Amino acid sequence: MAQRILTGYRPTGKLHLGHLHGNLKRMIELQEQATCFFFIADWHALTTDYQDPSRLRAYTEDMVVDWLAAGLDADKAAIYRQSDLPEVAEFQLYLSMVTPLGWLERVPSFKEQQEQLKGREIATHGFLGYPVLQAADILIVRADGVPVGEDQLPHLELTREIVRRFNYLYGETFAEPQSLLSPSPRIPGTDGRKMSKSYGNHISLGDTPEDIHKKVGIMVTDPARRTRRDPGDPEKCSVYELHKIYTVDRLEEIGEKCRTAGWGCVECKRVLAERVADSLRDFRARRKELEKTPGIAWKVLEDGLRKVKPVAGEVLAEVRRRMGID
Ligand code: TRP
Ligand code: SF4
Repeated sequence: MAQRILTGYRPTGKLHLGHLHGNLKRMIELQEQATCFFFIADWHALTTDYQDPSRLRAYTEDMVVDWLAAGLDADKAAIYRQSDLPEVAEFQLYLSMVTPLGWLERVPSFKEQQEQLKGREIATHGFLGYPVLQAADILIVRADGVPVGEDQLPHLELTREIVRRFNYLYGETFAEPQSLLSPSPRIPGTDGRKMSKSYGNHISLGDTPEDIHKKVGIMVTDPARRTRRDPGDPEKCSVYELHKIYTVDRLEEIGEKCRTAGWGCVECKRVLAERVADSLRDFRARRKELEKTPGIAWKVLEDGLRKVKPVAGEVLAEVRRRMGID
């Protein structure tokens, strides 16, 4: 079992259900069992958003407070901000020396993001180096387990390739980190695509019951149910995908009512919205409580930095030694 866990989130503002089921729940469990490093990847955010960094600080703060409200514990895990740890940048420079250009050009997200984020001019050195920076994040604390979503697997593979090359060139220095893939299914957003802030289809953990009812209300359903009397196929419906998480105890009944037109989508959605809203009640209360302490996020990041700094310093010293820069 993994002993040293690290994962990072790009600061995109408040957390949503995709984060929670993606790997946040896993992180909350892992902090009880292993040494954990959880950080805000603000340099990674800059690789795509460098033209408008105006919200970076606010997003960082929002995300940390949400992490705490969701159950991450700054006494158990080191919670820090990437850009507060310049050791990572120096380490990335060393790793970039040994990483062939072809490896980076082959990473699927490189071309995909170029396509998707047209207009942001991300044909940059920084963006190409995104996975090298990620490798530096992971190796600077010698993490052996990295909880991530499926989209990150190629980055983890690249990290392992860099480890093998580094070890080959300079002697056995790093172990290959493993990805800890979240077991939970894909979380659909209101439009049926993967839930993501960039699609604007998300339900935030801090959403009020009214927000949640509204958002679930506009969720796409099986198009075969054009009227209340048309039977549907729950397996073709994103509302049902969420019922599989939130309404497990009534799943059979819900599927049956859909297939036999026993109820309408409006009722089906109301049941889901209530469940989701109930499940987030404690989160909202804790967040309100945390908001009473202004600056709490920065305080937590400061404490976390104190924990990670010596670890990073030691690893970097060894890397320098191995590469003749000591
Ligand atoms: N690339 C990750 C994402 O987009 C964020 C990230 C940066 C990360 N560095 C990391 C994740 C190191 C795991 C380990 O979600
Ligand atoms: Fe989806 Fe429920 Fe409508 Fe069936 S009844 S299509 S499961 S919302």
